[in-house]
Amino acid sequence: MRIAVEGCAHGELDIIYEAIQEIEKIDERKIDLLICCGDFQATRNLSDLKCMAVPDKYKDMCTFYKYYSGEKKAPILTIFIGGNHEASNHLQELPYGGWVAPNIYYLGYAGVVQVAGVRIAGLSGIYKSQHWMQGHYEKPPYNDSTIRSAYHVRNLEVFRLKQLSGKIDIFLSHDWPAGVTKYGDEDALLKQKPFFKNDIESNALGSPPCMELLELLHPSYWFSAHLHCKFAALVPEKGGARVTRFLALDKCLPKRKFLQVLEVRSQTDSPVQLSYDPEWLAILYLTNHLLSVKNNIHYMPGRYGAGRWMYTPTAKEKQTVYERFDSDMRIPLNFTRTVKPYDSCDTDTHAERPRLLINDQTTEFCQKLGIDDPSALLQLIGSTTKDNSRSGDVSMETSGEYTSESMEISFEEDNILCSTFEEDPPNKCPSDSMPTNLSPKSNDDEYSHSSDYTVNTSKSTLDDGVNDSASMGDSNGQCTQTEPNCKKFKRRNHSIYSNTL
Ligand SMILES: [Fe+2]
Repeated sequence: MRIAVEGCAHGELDIIYEAIQEIEKIDERKIDLLICCGDFQATRNLSDLKCMAVPDKYKDMCTFYKYYSGEKKAPILTIFIGGNHEASNHLQELPYGGWVAPNIYYLGYAGVVQVAGVRIAGLSGIYKSQHWMQGHYEKPPYNDSTIRSAYHVRNLEVFRLKQLSGKIDIFLSHDWPAGVTKYGDEDALLKQKPFFKNDIESNALGSPPCMELLELLHPSYWFSAHLHCKFAALVPEKGGARVTRFLALDKCLPKRKFLQVLEVRSQTDSPVQLSYDPEWLAILYLTNHLLSVKNNIHYMPGRYGAGRWMYTPTAKEKQTVYERFDSDMRIPLNFTRTVKPYDSCDTDTHAERPRLLINDQTTEFCQKLGIDDPSALLQLIGSTTKDNSRSGDVSMETSGEYTSESMEISFEEDNILCSTFEEDPPNKCPSDSMPTNLSPKSNDDEYSHSSDYTVNTSKSTLDDGVNDSASMGDSNGQCTQTEPNCKKFKRRNHSIYSNTL
């Protein structure tokens, strides 16, 4: 199976799909799956833009809404995790994953799926210690605090991922595992990003829980984004034979290394379609009692507690899941719209006030598995406390195919602006180099070929030499489209992914 991996997508789906189609033409081979490592920006309308933690001037509808409305269809099965620039209200509807558009699947706060036998796990968001032990208490409309904390990683999701056993083929995180740079060419990285120096020296670059997961699970591949540069590393297992091939990719901009194509051995007799991972579903079921939607400190079970503290499912517990799903692990194609999509022809620029919505996909999944929907719990709290303050305003709403009657327009300006990209590092012009001193320590021949691609455009208002905020768009803050006729593809084969070494 050929997989394309993308760094930060930043809403540029048209460009990414065009790039993939060009690669397919050049290689005369189809790509089966696209994986995006966060900052996907699944903004459906102007209301969603209000829920995204970026300064107003960078709030742009970009292209996702066309895939949501049905104007366009994703040409390739796409899965993604969340980053720190997301329509958090949209992703919050799908805490355990779900379709955000036909053929585009979000993995949830954390998730594990299988595609033709390839096991893919992911963790959304970025790590911030101040929210690590709290529940998922945020709800739209967000205030200027919750609009950020909504995407901060919680200990519950990492605890759940730590219960996994067996082989993980691919793991996705938005921020890098802390300390991963020491397993690659740090000097080359620091030439690109000299301002990483202090953080690298103090081991403050990246996510400590992600490194714990990497060292525990040792997936064959680990892909990340967030720092807007390309970096590769090989992380050997301490005292073991496994090696994780880490790769971070850049964001989707001209002349950036934002796509990597690799070939992964899959079950050739299985169709390329998404399936639930039975072990993951069993873990969700067994740990449902640990879910909290309160903003207080929230401990995970430990070995010195009174009750069960390991939730790696037994064969019998997995069998229970099979039975609940009638032995059919295929993820249903049950996408439905819950809000009115953006219409570029509509002169009405009013943004509906963001609200907490219940998504039918989540309801169906939770009912089948017998677990709680965090949004439903938040609604219960809202209705119990009769909290009608701005940040706690909850309107009961169920999903289903959008009809104008089901929506009520209430426009109110929210103070959700922020002055900086506080959680993205400054981004200066990266040099165009890959680490060269990496030598694989494994004879694993499972992955036979990999190439990366850079899209060059002859007409572009984007400049590699600008800072992160400015490079989000052109001088008008608009997403700049590449012109198909101007694209050139540059390919490099990487020794790190070759089975000939
Ligand atoms: Fe990011």
